[in-house]
Amino acid sequence: LIITIDGPSGAGKGTVCRRIANNLGYSLLDSGAMYRLTALDCIQKQVDLSDEHAVVNIAKNLDIFFEALTETTVIRLSGYDVSHAIREENVGMAASVIAAYPDVRTQLLQQQRDFAQSKGLPKGLVADGRDMGTVVFPAAHVKIFLTASAQERARRRVLQLESSGAQHIDHAVILKDIQDRDERDMSRATAPLKPAVDAYLLDSTSLSIDEVCKVIMDRIALVNA
Ligand code: DC
Repeated sequence: LIITIDGPSGAGKGTVCRRIANNLGYSLLDSGAMYRLTALDCIQKQVDLSDEHAVVNIAKNLDIFFEALTETTVIRLSGYDVSHAIREENVGMAASVIAAYPDVRTQLLQQQRDFAQSKGLPKGLVADGRDMGTVVFPAAHVKIFLTASAQERARRRVLQLESSGAQHIDHAVILKDIQDRDERDMSRATAPLKPAVDAYLLDSTSLSIDEVCKVIMDRIALVNA
């Protein structure tokens, strides 16, 4: 069974996908992490992000490793633990830039499908991203498009940054970053962020994580029935 959960950044996909995967004993594919890893590799190797050919080359030769634990996933790039580094704001921005290159997407699409295969899908897969239901797994059994207002997503991001010890966070700057990233993700020509025609639209603006998970688990139960 393949479950795709797509949507803009900050809608709660990461937490929700992990919960659902844990509940069901499914594998978890964090496709955003692959774009972030490509971006981080470019930054570390001082590759010019506007040099599409060079960025594609980085995507082709990524040396990455995901070690799934219950509460988290340890992510390695060229042997180093970059689980925290890839979550930095500048890496997210760079990921959104390089995600617009069609050949980068083709490279990562193959790696995402390989990941699904390599796990052998003992029970199923929860795929978290922007184009999981539209492009990567068009035949997925359950497709969710999880969203929330930009204001609410900025509020959650500020809370998250504060809880990790960040200081002097400017809400307006975070909101602008979210709006810019939405705009880039939705307006790119290849695999833009949009709901699949057969996706279930779920607005989490006024829902808790528990409520969101319940709605999704109910939909999965319907398909399994
Ligand atoms: O979900 P995230 O914030 O980790 O994603 C980082 C960036 O990667 C985001 O700006 C868009 C891009 N992305 C994408 O284009 N397609 C995906 N399937 C996942 C992420």
